[in-house]
Amino acid sequence: MVGQWGKEDDENVVIRCYNDLRDIIQMEWVEKSCEIGNDQTFLFTDTLGDPLCRIRNTPLSTMLVADVGTKLVGCIQGSVKPVKFHDKSVNVGYVLGLRVVPPYRRCGIGSILVQNLEEWFVSHNVDYAYMATQKDNDASLGLFVGTLGYTVFRNPAILVNPVNPGRNLKLPSDIGIRKLKVEEAASWYRTHVAPTTDFFPDDIDQILRNKLSMGTWVAYYNNNDKIDSWAILSVWNSSKVFKLRIGKAPLSYLLLTKVCNLVGRFLMLLGLTALPDLFNTFGFYFLYGVHAEGPLCGNLVRALCDHVNNMAASDDGGACKVVVVEVDGESNGGDLIRCVPHWKMLSCDDDTWCIKPLKCEEKMSDLGEFDDMFWKSKSGTLFVDPRDV
Ligand SMILES: CC(C)(COP(=O)(O)OP(=O)(O)OC[C@H]1O[C@@H](n2cnc3c(N)ncnc32)[C@H](O)[C@@H]1OP(=O)(O)O)[C@@H](O)C(=O)NCCC(=O)NCCS
Repeated sequence: MVGQWGKEDDENVVIRCYNDLRDIIQMEWVEKSCEIGNDQTFLFTDTLGDPLCRIRNTPLSTMLVADVGTKLVGCIQGSVKPVKFHDKSVNVGYVLGLRVVPPYRRCGIGSILVQNLEEWFVSHNVDYAYMATQKDNDASLGLFVGTLGYTVFRNPAILVNPVNPGRNLKLPSDIGIRKLKVEEAASWYRTHVAPTTDFFPDDIDQILRNKLSMGTWVAYYNNNDKIDSWAILSVWNSSKVFKLRIGKAPLSYLLLTKVCNLVGRFLMLLGLTALPDLFNTFGFYFLYGVHAEGPLCGNLVRALCDHVNNMAASDDGGACKVVVVEVDGESNGGDLIRCVPHWKMLSCDDDTWCIKPLKCEEKMSDLGEFDDMFWKSKSGTLFVDPRDV
C-alpha cells in the first residue's frame, strides 16, 4: 500500500504489515521518540521487548507500519472483537498505538495509517472503529475528530490507587468475599451487566479464561437483611503485558515523592500508604467488570478493592505498584467514582473515547440520527475490556 504525503522530499510513504524480525529495533526507536503526555507529565510504556504485546490477547489483530525509504517512521495497531452495542451484536475495531516520529509529523502519515487500518477493519466485517485518547491531546483529536470524522463518545475517568506493600488492609467482618468460577462469572456478567452496558464483549468467556485474568470476586453482606446489595469485579494482571514509567511530572508531584521517600517508614508505622516510586518501571492490576447493585453496595465495592490491594501487595515481589479502574464519568459511573478508593493526584478524568461507523454510513440517512444514537447510549454504562488497556 502506498499513500500520498505532503513532504517536499519526493519519497513515497509505504504502509505495510509489521514484521518482527525486520522491524523490532526501529520500532523501539519509534516508541521512545513518541512519549505520550502534555507539558507537565510524560508516561513511557515499556513493552518488555514485544511491540505486539497490547494486541496479542484479542482474537483478531494487526499492526501496520509506515516506511519512508528505509526508515520506519510510524505505526498503528488494531484489534477486532464482537460486542453488544446499543442492543445489537456488532464487530468493533479498536485503534491503538498510533505513532509518527516527530520529524515526519503534519505530513499526513498519521491519517494514512488510520485510513489503512480502517480498510483492514472493513475487510474484517467491522461495523464501528473506536479509539481512546486524552482530552488535551490536540494532535490526536485534531486527526481523528477534525480530519477523519470520529465523534467523541464517552469521557471515562481513570482511577489509580497505590498499592500498600507489606500491609494487609483489614476487611469489614460483616462482608463476605467469594471467588467465582469462570462459568459462574460469565453467567453473572451476562445476566446482570450485559443488559445495562455498552461494548459488553460477546467473548467474555475468553477474557475470563485468559491467563492474565486473575479471577472474579463478588462481595455481599453476611447479614441476610442486606441480601439485595452486592458487588462484582474481575482482575487483569497488566504487569505481565507491559510496564509504565513516569518520565516527567508536575513539580508538586516531584516534591511530594521526595517528602514521602523521606517519611515513608513513618507513614507505614502510622498505617498510611506511601507514594509509590513511579519514576522507575512499574506494573499494575486493571479492574474490569466493576458493577454493584443495591442500596448498600458502596461498602462492598470498597471491600473488593481492598481485597485486590492485598493481593497486589503480596504479588511478584512488589512489581504491581498501583491498581487501576476505568469507569464511566457519566451515568452511574459517578457513583462508582465515590466508592472506588483512588488518589486524585494519580487519577485523571480526561480520557476521551471517539467512535466512527464504518459500515452504517449509507444506512444512516443523516448525521443527526447517528449523534442521537450516541446520546441515547450514554444511559448505559461502559464495559472497559481489559485487552484494550
Ligand atoms: C497524533 C499523531 C500520530 C499525528 O500524526 P501526523 O502524521 O502528524 O498526523 P497528520 O499529518 O495525518 O495530521 C492530520 C491532521 O490532524 C490534525 N493534527 C495533527 N497534528 C496536530 C497537532 N499537533 N495539533 C493540532 N492538530 C493536529 C490536523 O488537522 C492535521 O491536518 P493538517 O496538518 O492539514 O492541519 C502524532 O502527532 C504522534 O505520533 N503523536 C504522539 C503519539 C500520540 O499522541 N498518538 C495518538 C494516541 S491516540
